[in-house]
Amino acid sequence: MNELKKVITLKDLWDARATLPTPIGLVPTMGFLHEGHLSLVKRARSELASVVVSIFVNPTQFAPTDDLNAYPRDLERDIALLEKAGANLLWMPTPEIMYPPDYQTWVNVDKITKPLEGKKRPGHFRGVTTIVAKLFNAIQPQVAYFGQKDAQQVAVIKQMVRDLNMPIEIIASPIIRERDGLAMSSRNTYLNPAERQAALVLSKSLEAAKSAYQNGERNAQILRVKMEEVINAEPLARLEYISCADYDQLNEIEKIEKKTLLSMAVYIGKTRLIDNEVLG
Ligand code: PAF
Repeated sequence: MNELKKVITLKDLWDARATLPTPIGLVPTMGFLHEGHLSLVKRARSELASVVVSIFVNPTQFAPTDDLNAYPRDLERDIALLEKAGANLLWMPTPEIMYPPDYQTWVNVDKITKPLEGKKRPGHFRGVTTIVAKLFNAIQPQVAYFGQKDAQQVAVIKQMVRDLNMPIEIIASPIIRERDGLAMSSRNTYLNPAERQAALVLSKSLEAAKSAYQNGERNAQILRVKMEEVINAEPLARLEYISCADYDQLNEIEKIEKKTLLSMAVYIGKTRLIDNEVLG
């Protein structure tokens, strides 16, 4: 079993960071780890000399109406999983360390945060980019790994890194799915058995659109309608948005001519799920 060093304070982080062989990979997380997170840790382990993982449930990326305290947590289990996956250092800062009283510095990425998740969750990406910039500053990794499931998050972070000249390579790793197609997410634990079954409409609708694309369909609206039909046929599902957009800047398109992101947010009961598929 790998020796995992666990730290909380910035001083302990910096001391431990200084002893790690480089290049260092960072896997930022909010904990309650699943196979998706562990695939990032394992990939980093196989590609780099050291792997740092952060666990911090970042309050500033939640809306005031979200129940931050209800976010699932299981630190003991997370630690055991990280030891097994081969992480070297785990940083678990407290909210007071990340946001001390009178905190007042924010990182705001402009255009690309406006559509999709940004439109439905105002302020969310300001919280994400601020905390990720702080994690990058404190840990100074050479590479950072994110799950492609949060496709807009990846695009926003890549934009931030380019715009702020951060010397960090951003790697997006493929979505890890359950055997029946449901994309892995910490939020899946909120689903009751009927909702868990209903949640399959997300991946099924993406499959329907992908198969139309593979059969030559290039009209974006036709793909959107195909996805909508699958979702609307499920009584427990309520569609929040569906998108067929260019992969880099996330603008809605009419015709698929280059790399394209199909994405969606759907409420299954009270649980909001997202999923996506890259075409081309
Ligand atoms: O994807 C997540 O879990 C979070 O948004 C991140 C990147 C850890 C920032 O809090």
